[in-house]
This record gives sequence, C-alpha cells and structure tokens, in this order.
Amino acid sequence: MTRYSRITGTGSFLPPRRVTNADLAAELGAKGVETSDEWIVERTGIRARHFAAPDVTSSDLGAEAARRALEAAGRGAGEIDLIIVATSTPDMVFPSAACILQNKLGIAGCAAFDVQAVCSGFVYALTVADSLIRTGGASKALVIGAEVFSRILDFTDRTTCVLFGDGAGAVVLEASETPGILASDLHADGKHVSILCVPGNVSGGKVLGDPLLKMDGQAVFKLAVGVLEDAARATLAKAGKTDADIDWLIPHQANIRIMQSTARKLKLPMDKLVVTVDQHGNTSAASIPLALDASVRSGKIRKGDTLMLEGVGGGFTWGAVLLDF
Ligand code: UT7
Repeated sequence: MTRYSRITGTGSFLPPRRVTNADLAAELGAKGVETSDEWIVERTGIRARHFAAPDVTSSDLGAEAARRALEAAGRGAGEIDLIIVATSTPDMVFPSAACILQNKLGIAGCAAFDVQAVCSGFVYALTVADSLIRTGGASKALVIGAEVFSRILDFTDRTTCVLFGDGAGAVVLEASETPGILASDLHADGKHVSILCVPGNVSGGKVLGDPLLKMDGQAVFKLAVGVLEDAARATLAKAGKTDADIDWLIPHQANIRIMQSTARKLKLPMDKLVVTVDQHGNTSAASIPLALDASVRSGKIRKGDTLMLEGVGGGFTWGAVLLDF
C-alpha cells in the first residue's frame, strides 16, 4: 500500500503586542524616520504586525503553535517522532530551535532539526517531512515555522522595518493511506544572495559585518512574481492537476500586490486567495502556517479542500506544495 502524509491539525501563536502602522509610524517618527499608514497600506497591504517581548524566542512562539496544532490533531506530544522548525531567527547559533522546542514540549528522543530557507522555509520543511514520512523515517511530525524578525530589523531603514513581524504556525503531519500532500517543487538560486540577506556573522566572540536585514525590495518583487507562477505550475503538473483544482491559494504573506499578481496568473478569483499579511505583516517562515491556521479556525478552509502553498524569499529560494487538506 502506498504511504502518504496528511495534515491532521494546525495551530499558531502571535505574541500579544500588536503594533499598527500608525503606532509604528509614531515610534519611527520620534526617531526622525518618516513613514505613514497610507504608504504602508498602499505599497504592501500591511496594517499591523505583532512584535515579541525581548526575552521571547522563536522556540517559545513555535512551542505554543505546536501545542495548539497537537490539540487540533488530537495527539499528545509524546506521539511525535519528528520535529522540523523552519526559521531564520533561531534562539541560538546552535543547538537548533527544534531541539530547544522539543524540550519545551517535554519530549525527548525524536529527530529534531531546523530548516533554513528564509521565507520559503515552511514549504521546504513540509516537503522534507513529507519525504521522511513517505519513506518510513517518521510517522507523526510537527512542522513549524517560527520567527522573531523584529530582532534583525534596522529601525532606521524605513524600506524594510515596516514590513516584518513575529509569530509562529505549526502543523501535525501524519502518515496516511490517502494522499494529503500531492506534490511539491523546491528551488534556489544562490547568485541572488545579496538582494535579501542579513550579512553579519559571529566570529571570535564579535559580530562581524551587519547583523540587520538588507533588502533590495524591487529586485525581490520582480523575481518573486515570476517564480511563484512557475513553482505553482510545476507543482500542479507533477500532481496531474490544473489551476481549476485549487480551492485556496496560500502564498507567502509579504506583499498583497505580489499575492494578487500570483492569483491572477493562476486565473484564480481573489476570493480564493488567503490574506493575512494585513494583520501579521511578513513573518517569513511563519507566514504560511499562520495563514493556514487562521483560515482553518475561521472555517474558511475545510477538510478535503485542495490548497496551494507557496514560499519565496532570501537565498534566493522558492517553492510550492499542493495538498488535500
Ligand atoms: O519575504 C521575502 C519576500 N519579500 C518581498 O516579497 C518584498 C518584495 N518587495 C516589496 O514588497 C516592495 O518592493 C516594497 C514594499 C519593499 C517597496 O515597494 P515599492 O513600491 O517597490 O517602493 P520603492 O522601493 O520603489 O519606493 C518608492 C518610494 C521611494 O521614494 P522615492 O525614491 O520615490 O522618493 C522610497 O524612498 O517610497 C519610499 N519609501 C517609503 N516611504 C514611506 C520606501 N519605504 C517607505 C516607507 N514609508 N516605509
């Protein structure tokens, strides 16, 4: 019998501090950095984001999202045999956020590691977990996207600091006799490293280089709209499906204009596009599972719906996963 993997529960967690565009504009204005609610909404669709308290880490947010996903799946943490955390803002240089999170869930023994593919991290992590489950290496996985991007923002650079937020989303992915994940398609092109990066590093006990996020927004925008269509089409072709089979498009939540352009290219009506960027901002690897969980809990996404998840970001990385929920 063919072995597949299927999502059996979703969960998410946002740190309580919600910062509206007006709040942020006032904070930045006091430091001489000019921005406005109008500019942010018009160029990105973002209205608010959440920022974690200084002592809260990605594994804290991820553990809470994981607990909620486990509850939704009706599973105990002790049943989990694989943990993958997608993050670019791990708690430490090492060990992985996944190992720290495993301990916070009160379990031990199962494989746990991080995936670093920036905003494509969740589709990468889901694909790795699916492969391990299908080949018998695991049967009940937690796949988590967790970020505290507020830690790596330059609050004197208005072209980036208004875009990102903190949060976490998680799914429980289980072995199944019926297909959940239908196909996926992952890519990277390392020649674009410099258009979106945090170029600093730790060496000899000092930070070398700049430890804050740098982005050439227009270059990222142009690449993103092209590759998102390609990845969706390649994934549909692998699954033997067409645009018309997609019930919900859940792209990485970075900019409403990129998301709408992808939906248009896939000939999807805008009401099939899941949008949470307005409330969460860009939470990098957490954005897709956050959007998925919000839509499941609001009753929008139902069991049996076909979902196209799409990530794109630093690396440059991109990819898509098509699944029956
Ligand atoms: O997560 C990975 C994926 N990331 C993305 O997908 C991000 C992709 N890029 C984007 O979303 C967009 O390029 C941005 C939202 C980052 C920028 O939007 P844009 O329409 O490309 O704006 P722009 O960079 O062309 O800037 C237009 C103007 C500039 O002023 P001038 O030169 O025309 O006078 C900027 O200085 O807007 C100015 N500007 C701002 N003004 C007020 C830039 N940031 C701000 C700001 N507030 N926060």
